[in-house]
Amino acid sequence: MDDIKARYLALIAAAADEAAIEEVRIAAMGKQGEVALRMRELGRMSPEERQTAGPALNALKDEITSALAARKAALGDAALEERLRAEWLDVTLPGRPRRQGTIHPISQVTEEVTAIFADMGFRVAEGPQVESDWFNFDALNIPGHHPARAEMDTFYTHRAPGDNRPPHVLRTHTSPVQIRALQAQGAPIRVIAPGRVYRADYDQTHTPMFHQVEGLAIDRDISMANLKWCLEEFVKAYFEVDHVDLRFRASHFPFTEPSAEVDIRCSWEGGTLKVGEGDDWLEVLGSGMVHPKVLQAAGVDPAQWQGFAFGLGIDRIAMLKYGIPDLRAFFDSDLRWLRHYGFASLDVPTLHGGLSR
Ligand code: DAH
Repeated sequence: MDDIKARYLALIAAAADEAAIEEVRIAAMGKQGEVALRMRELGRMSPEERQTAGPALNALKDEITSALAARKAALGDAALEERLRAEWLDVTLPGRPRRQGTIHPISQVTEEVTAIFADMGFRVAEGPQVESDWFNFDALNIPGHHPARAEMDTFYTHRAPGDNRPPHVLRTHTSPVQIRALQAQGAPIRVIAPGRVYRADYDQTHTPMFHQVEGLAIDRDISMANLKWCLEEFVKAYFEVDHVDLRFRASHFPFTEPSAEVDIRCSWEGGTLKVGEGDDWLEVLGSGMVHPKVLQAAGVDPAQWQGFAFGLGIDRIAMLKYGIPDLRAFFDSDLRWLRHYGFASLDVPTLHGGLSR
């Protein structure tokens, strides 16, 4: 029995994994195992023999069983140790020191503008950037021969030779979303439509792709006074000041009557752009009372409904608020510029939490 014990204890000590242990267990303790066979032999022994062999066999059984269990536990511990060593992680390491990405000022300002108008009850509406000629021009009371078509430096899409349908355009403004929103919802309505627009133009304050927010408020008794109040409230909230000098200039747009353009007082001194001081004015938006023909084109009865609309240059007001002198830099994808002017990704602008801080 000492021999059996020595052999199995050696096998157990040498078992390198759970499968090997199981093999040893079956060889020793299984139904056909060596210990079981010895147990069966007890029956054939004389009572005296059995008295010494019985307890000795039981002791052997216990010893092998506990050696198996101990070896199994030791292997488990070793495996856990090994995992802990391999998957070790120092949670006291400092975080990465530099922000890897930032929110672009255009996205930031779009969120800010949306938060302010949402607070005044405006919903966000959307339309396509590749727009039909009808939505971009005709429905907005800009017929085929109208000089505004030429003034807008429109990008036209290509039509296959022989296809005589009017080409689509890259929308030159967000105003076509007025028509789409009215067609979808009817009056009364209060929406803003932020998005990309396109014109063939390029200098310090113009890029071929830029951003506008369209605003539209139609109800039974909306007046020019409501428009002016709304824009003043917006500008104060946006620039986070109690007072901003605004200049309403009489103007003309085919889709509004009467129409006004709005400029903000600013200075460009020393290459930096500052809002609210100086003797310069930067035009930031066009606005007016929606033309009856526009309402009609969108399926709304101008005898019952009226209201205002405006189109605001997002890039322009971003430059003004954040002191960015050159519009072209917005779209250069220069990482140093983005790190300097970008915003932390978790600072979502809200009116209660602060727009920009
Ligand atoms: N769509 C005009 C532009 O891009 C801006 C504009 C002017 C929009 C007057 C309006 C508006 O809604 O009423 O120049």
